[in-house]
This record gives sequence, C-alpha cells and structure tokens, in this order.
Amino acid sequence: MTIGTPPGFFRVPFRLPGGEEVELDTDRGLFSVAHVDPGTKVLLAKAPSPPAEGNLVDLGCGYGPISIALAKQSPKATVWAVDVNPRARELTEANARRLGAHNIRVVAPDDAPDDLVVAALYSNPPLHTGKSHLHELLVHWLGRLAPDGGAWLVVKRSLGSDSLIPWLTNSGFPANKLGSRRGYRVIEVRLPDSPAQARGAMGE
Ligand SMILES: C[S@@+](CC[C@H](N)C(=O)[O-])C[C@H]1O[C@@H](n2cnc3c(N)ncnc32)[C@H](O)[C@@H]1O
Repeated sequence: MTIGTPPGFFRVPFRLPGGEEVELDTDRGLFSVAHVDPGTKVLLAKAPSPPAEGNLVDLGCGYGPISIALAKQSPKATVWAVDVNPRARELTEANARRLGAHNIRVVAPDDAPDDLVVAALYSNPPLHTGKSHLHELLVHWLGRLAPDGGAWLVVKRSLGSDSLIPWLTNSGFPANKLGSRRGYRVIEVRLPDSPAQARGAMGE
C-alpha cells in the first residue's frame, strides 16, 4: 500500500503489452487487489492483439487492467469496460483517466447499448457466482460478437476451463484452448464463419 493512501486502497504495478510500466489503483473488496491477477497477465500474453477499430469488450473489468491494455493497444477502438460492481467501474474510470486511455467507456451491464456489435471480447470472467451465472453471462455477451469477431477468456484449469470449452462449443460458440500457463487456460471462441485471424500475441 502506498503511504498516505486511505486504508484498503492500493496502487499496484502493471506492465502494459507494449512494455510500458504503469500503476493501477485498486481497492479492498475488488478482485485481485494486491497485484494484477496472474490469469489476467496470461490472457494478455497469449491472446491476439485487439483489432485496431470497432467495439472491444472487457467483460468483468474489475479495476481495469484488461481495458487499459486494450485501449492502449488500439487507441482508435472503443473499449467497453463492463462490471456489475460500482467501485470497480469507478476505479477503471479513474485509472483510464490518469493513464490517458481516453477510448474506454465504463458501463454497468444494463447500460451497454442493446445493439452493440462486438469485434473482440476479452475476459477474466467471474467464476465465484457459479456455473449457471457464467454460462448465462457468456451466452449474452458472445451473442453480440460480429460475424468475424472473436473472444478470449482466461480460466484456471482447476476452476473448470476444460469443461467450459465443450460447453461453449455445444452452445454454438466454437471454442478451443489457445494456450496455457501456470495453470491458466486461454480459451478462444470464433464464430462458425469467422476467418482464422492470426495476429501476434499481445506480449507480456
Ligand atoms: C475475475 S474478476 C476480473 C477483474 C478484472 N478483469 C481483472 O482482470 O482483474 C471478474 C469481474 O467480473 C465482475 N462481474 C461479476 N458478475 C458480472 C456480470 N454479471 N457482468 C459484468 N461483470 C460482472 C466482478 O465484479 C469482477 O470484477
């Protein structure tokens, strides 16, 4: 914790995909308060770079590491940082402002436009709320993918990543394991007609 900050408030180091070192403000009660989650780092290292333009979604943004990485990589895209937790949204907003990531729109799930077409979705999704919530959430958001869009999810192997892949595929969202590191799997979802797009990984 930084000296002089209120109790429960942390500032954690974060290396952007381009290599720049920044700091993110977090707060007690949020996910992975004391450091950026290792799964989030694996996702950013393994997933392809985001498209340069269009709508990118960080589903369950927390205090914003994924949103800020996406926004910095694709400054012409619009990054929708979505979270149910108002404090998470507040901190994503503040971190984005401080770091000059001006292309982030922070919204509660119900405040995202109904007709949003998503070019790419990245998520370290909520797992603590149970499988049926996760499934409902994924079906809702993956259903908004553009025909040539894609989604990348990071899930700990011990928390069910391997069963999520066939479930997604059977639900109409063809999924495969893109890579894994330190017990985390990165799952890639491509719609049936989506061209295989090989972009470089975001790097760590
Ligand atoms: C595993 S955390 C990931 C946080 C952040 N992306 C990171 O990498 O540190 C999942 C986040 O999903 C949020 N969440 C839970 N249910 C949600 C929902 N229905 N819609 C959007 N976000 C949700 C939680 O508040 C939490 O911040």
